[in-house]
Amino acid sequence: MRFTDRAFLVSSTLLAIPSLTTAFYLPGVAPTSYDEGQAVPLYVNHLTPSLSRDDQLHSVFSFDYYHPAFGFCRPADGPKDVRESLGSILFGDRIRTSPFELHMAKNETCKSICAEAKFDARSAKWTNRRIAQGYNINWIVDGLPAAQLNYDGVTKTKFYNPGFSLGELDDNGQALLNNHYDIVIDYHKVGFGGKDKYRVVGVLVQPESRKDSRNLEGGAAECGTPGNGLTLNEDGETAVTWTYSVYWKESPTAWATRWDKYLHVYDPKIHWFSLINSAVFVVFLVGMVSMILVRALKKDIARYNRLDSFNLEDLDSTSAAIEDGVQEDSGWKLVHGDVFRCPKSPLLLSVMVGNGAQLFMMTGVTVAFALLGLLSPSNRGFLATAILLISALFGGIGGYVSARVYKTFGGDAWRRNIIITPLFIPGIVFGTFFTLNLFVWAKGSSGAVPFGTMLALVLIWFVISVPLSVAGSWLGFKQSPLEGPTKTNQIPRQIPPMSGSLRTIPSILLTGILPFGAIFVELYFIMTSLWTNKIYYMFGFLFLCYGLMIITSAATTVLLVYFLLCAENYQWHWRAFMGAGMTGGYVFVNALIFWATRVSFGGLTGAVLYVGYSALIAFVVFILTGSIGFFASWAFIHRIYGSIKVD
Ligand SMILES: *[C@@H]1O[C@H](CO)[C@@H](O)[C@H](O)[C@H]1NC(C)=O
Repeated sequence: MRFTDRAFLVSSTLLAIPSLTTAFYLPGVAPTSYDEGQAVPLYVNHLTPSLSRDDQLHSVFSFDYYHPAFGFCRPADGPKDVRESLGSILFGDRIRTSPFELHMAKNETCKSICAEAKFDARSAKWTNRRIAQGYNINWIVDGLPAAQLNYDGVTKTKFYNPGFSLGELDDNGQALLNNHYDIVIDYHKVGFGGKDKYRVVGVLVQPESRKDSRNLEGGAAECGTPGNGLTLNEDGETAVTWTYSVYWKESPTAWATRWDKYLHVYDPKIHWFSLINSAVFVVFLVGMVSMILVRALKKDIARYNRLDSFNLEDLDSTSAAIEDGVQEDSGWKLVHGDVFRCPKSPLLLSVMVGNGAQLFMMTGVTVAFALLGLLSPSNRGFLATAILLISALFGGIGGYVSARVYKTFGGDAWRRNIIITPLFIPGIVFGTFFTLNLFVWAKGSSGAVPFGTMLALVLIWFVISVPLSVAGSWLGFKQSPLEGPTKTNQIPRQIPPMSGSLRTIPSILLTGILPFGAIFVELYFIMTSLWTNKIYYMFGFLFLCYGLMIITSAATTVLLVYFLLCAENYQWHWRAFMGAGMTGGYVFVNALIFWATRVSFGGLTGAVLYVGYSALIAFVVFILTGSIGFFASWAFIHRIYGSIKVD
């Protein structure tokens, strides 16, 4: 864990913005050992929606634990914020102290938390609605989420599912509020020089609804009977007594493996199966296509070069060759004088591929980090923090690539290029994020990112990313442009009309579909873990999918460009970018389908939020895959035009 410590040190130094300095630390990297009877703090996090029994998602908002309408007990001196990382705040974590008292290895039955809470009609209505939407309570004990024990019928294993329900719906659809918690904590005993120490290795909560629990004199309580549900009256006042019991169970699980039972893969067989399926399909297709392409190209190149040598030797044999059926130059060679012509809107294209290169490096490094196990789930929000910092640090790459591409296109508005590269696309992303956040904020959800965090984001961008990008651009503009192997003619060639699948829209739609197919399976898991606050940890799968996506984007775009050139259409730049970028379009369509089939929530804000965030993700995928397609085509074109002789 040395490296994480150092990474953390770097990140916290970089982000030493006064109000935020306390907000960075990595919990859960080193084990905490407790003495018997020592207090173990229980922290509360936000309430999050979960997938219901029929796999439907009913809301996308998360709510603060201490939202007054929930009526949860507060600590005597008020709840205090627990330090969190920037990424953890961005992803909605709001961790606070709580009034629950746990003492290591001391069983305690039926304790009351605070005096009665009163639910008025409005709060009752609010809370009942949250119960109907399947909201989960999230607690954290020693860095571990409090979970409910679930049973997976397919793999026949029990696993810990983080979060436990706020309440249940009874058979009549009446909401029952869980006001009693049986907390079961697994602990592991370790010997420390003859003295026993205890570590927390698992946290389970079994919530129950009990109507007849009462507070007694002197802090004691009566915990009522199970099966006698508490309903909140929506027309009047309801008094609620909150109670809990704590049971400590010794466990053989060591501290180092305590996360294992949380990270449950639903049906890993299906997961692997579909992944391998798509991998085999993709590899087969790409292999076949590239074989055909290489053969066709070899033939083309041999033919072109033969014609050339005939020309040089004598006219007779050339005419003989032509009579032989070897025609004059045809196909992609015809456009050699135009293929390196500057595309339309070179500034915009160079800015997009510059940012795409930055994204590409960022995703690559992040996935590699994750594979090395540096983004373990116990480092809350570390993934998001890492993504942010890495992409800011790669601003230099964005600037450099954008500048070089622009210079190669022969653009002369270099000042504009330098300014627009670090501002345009990050501006769109941040602007959308900011606008969506206003909706969350208006809704009173705790998921709204605080103003200080927003400011920190802007600062990271302007203090780290923009200067690096400008420096990169400066370097890029100092280099000479990348010359193509063939000279560009003065007068542009006429482009014949395209037909069939080579027309603009069909060709773009067709190109994006294969890379999308490569990430389709994983996308579902990422989406659900994003919306339901589940831990995403299948980085092995993610790595494979990412690799497949790169290969397919590159291969299909190269194929598209080859066909375009054969049809004497040399305007490949935008077509390659849009074609591969269409993967993002499919990601958006997929999100809409998920919405139509799996999401059921009314309300405009929920819809705006869902569509908005999906569009944002799709946009990022668009820039990323578009750039992959563009650079693959660029390399391809340099290669093929470099291997023919042109007089
Ligand atoms: C606490 O309760 C659990 C569960 O009922 C039991 O297994 C355990 O032995 C108890 N521990 C003590 C110290 O009594």
